[in-house]
Amino acid sequence: MTIMDAQTTIDDIRSRALGEIDAATDLNQILAWERAFLGPKGELTLFLRGLGSVSADQRPIAGRGGNALKIELGEVWNTRHATMAAEALDRRLAEDAIDVTLPGRPLATGSSHPVSRMIDELSEIFALLGFQTVFGPEIETAHYNFDLLNIPADHPARDVWDTIHVDLPGEIVLRTHTSPMQARIMEKIDPPVRVIVPGRVYRYEAQDASHEWMFHQLEGLAVDRHITMADLKGTLAELARQLFGSDRRIRFRCDFFPFVEPGVDFAVDCAICNGKGCRVCKGSGWLEMGGAGMVHPDVLRGVGYDPDAYSGFAFGLGVERMIMMRSGVDDLRAFAGNDLRFLRQFASAAQAPPHI
Ligand code: FA5
Repeated sequence: MTIMDAQTTIDDIRSRALGEIDAATDLNQILAWERAFLGPKGELTLFLRGLGSVSADQRPIAGRGGNALKIELGEVWNTRHATMAAEALDRRLAEDAIDVTLPGRPLATGSSHPVSRMIDELSEIFALLGFQTVFGPEIETAHYNFDLLNIPADHPARDVWDTIHVDLPGEIVLRTHTSPMQARIMEKIDPPVRVIVPGRVYRYEAQDASHEWMFHQLEGLAVDRHITMADLKGTLAELARQLFGSDRRIRFRCDFFPFVEPGVDFAVDCAICNGKGCRVCKGSGWLEMGGAGMVHPDVLRGVGYDPDAYSGFAFGLGVERMIMMRSGVDDLRAFAGNDLRFLRQFASAAQAPPHI
């Protein structure tokens, strides 16, 4: 190789390299250019690597010129690469830009179950009347579910509550009503007592439009000195007014529950037909809400209260039945049926605040 040869080769590489990088239009071409000239098998790299075989008089020219070109091309590549990368990023950002003025996609949100809503509403109503909301176990001992409620093992009333037994001897049951919480609360605190207990209860019962094997009750219990039947009536009348409006009439009829004396059933005149009789009230004009009465002296004695000093009232109402009555639902099975079309109707209905 002559002096002219080495210089010519370097000039040739330089002019082609600069021409090609100028013509490159995208990042891929820039990367390919780097491989072609500066990569391990690139043209300039191979040229420099071949210096050993260049004649001694040309080697300094080839070495100096080749290394200078390597630095120059490296800088050119850096600048072009940075510009192209920035342009590519700008392009991508412009393409992906979000139009914040477009309406968003609605999120599918759930809502509380109508039974939970009713329980919340009942808690608010009773809070205004001075009652505290407490919860109790759904798996219960026969002791609390029956014995302390004046229903001994051989008592025929025990059969009335078609019990689901958890163990065979019948000592542990799924609670058949919320009344076992009466004894649990009274064992824990001294009078005055004013509580409500909402929750699930279970009965081995055939299902129909007004009966489920799992449903919800709301227990109420007030114990103090001088509590009378008038307090019970006043409390339930106020509940009916809050839930169904001031026009509703209420009815108490004698009924038997071993843990109250006297015992009553409590009904409200049907809001759907105004008491005239319709499908929901089965033509009677009245909807039965639950049982109630004055706490039996034996129950008070059983938890260590003195029945001569204290008296109390208790009630147990069906939560689903209250919703049915207010909203005209004619099949109780709908509440556990998981039909979203049914449930969504309650989600959109505005909840009426308590009438104060
Ligand atoms: C009781 O469960 C008593 N513990 C209520 C009570 C409490 C009386 C305190 C006195 C003092 P009963 O079995 O009647 O009573 O049930 C009360 C209410 O629960 C019924 O009026 C009804 O509204 C609802 N209910 C009863 N059985 C079902 C059922 N299978 N499905 C849906 N609701 C029911």
